[in-house]
Amino acid sequence: MEEHKALPDRKSFKATKKSRAEGALPLDSLLLRNRSCRGYDSNYIVSKEELLKIVEVNTKIASARNQQVLRFRLVYGTEAKEVTKAIKLGGALPELNLPLPGTEPNAYIIICTEEPKGKWVDIDMGISAQSMLLKAVDLGLNGICIAAFNKEKICALVNGSRQAECSAPAEHASEQPECSVQAEHASDQAECSAPAECGRQMEPLLILAIGKSIERFQLLPIGQEDEHNYFRKNGVHFVPKVRIEDLLIWTNQK
Ligand SMILES: Cc1cc2nc3c(=O)[nH]c(=O)nc-3n(C[C@H](O)[C@H](O)[C@H](O)COP(=O)(O)O)c2cc1C
Repeated sequence: MEEHKALPDRKSFKATKKSRAEGALPLDSLLLRNRSCRGYDSNYIVSKEELLKIVEVNTKIASARNQQVLRFRLVYGTEAKEVTKAIKLGGALPELNLPLPGTEPNAYIIICTEEPKGKWVDIDMGISAQSMLLKAVDLGLNGICIAAFNKEKICALVNGSRQAECSAPAEHASEQPECSVQAEHASDQAECSAPAECGRQMEPLLILAIGKSIERFQLLPIGQEDEHNYFRKNGVHFVPKVRIEDLLIWTNQK
């Protein structure tokens, strides 16, 4: 198996820190550092302000028909433990039961929508998730997309805590056109049955964990036929990535 240069070591990280002081990291560095992280420094408590800065990228990104249907629930402090209990990390390494005790994330962003799910919402979600993860790296943090979560529990968390924001609309629910749209698509929302104070359900689509990584990563170039699963060896988390030659659709063009 080919082994390739690891991500920047401590020395080059210092250089990177310097360049951060001088300006933003180049996109290639952000992308390299943007590895899915499943082990976090428990001494580093992610703040609400950091989460806000991350979510703020959503005011600058593309959106299908510019509808911007995604909404974001910040989770930090003691509430984070509830989310940790409802997520599953490292499906390809079940024997490790990740996250290891003491390395759990202490902050999350739950990406939600009030609109019926569909292709365009999913595309918006992908653009949003990657943009937020890159922003996290820009702030010296890391993260991971989590699709494997207990929908019922996360839905209850998101919808059960929305009183303050939408107590007024609850009284005027019939004036809200969105409520009828919601009713038509009630079956799509079967997993999300927690009562929302405002009469509209927020559907959790994806969770981002955010924190200070304690993991060591290495990308591993592979061919399209090779094993794609990530693995760990000597404390390093290897992530196979298909080479550019195999990503391109070749033509007869000169
Ligand atoms: C939409 C999406 C959902 C994911 N869900 C999970 C998940 O539930 N649990 C998990 O451990 N990793 C999850 N991941 C992380 C992938 O496993 C990870 O992106 C992949 O192994 C490649 O590693 P990299 O992100 O470092 O390139 C998800 C990634 C994406 C894009």
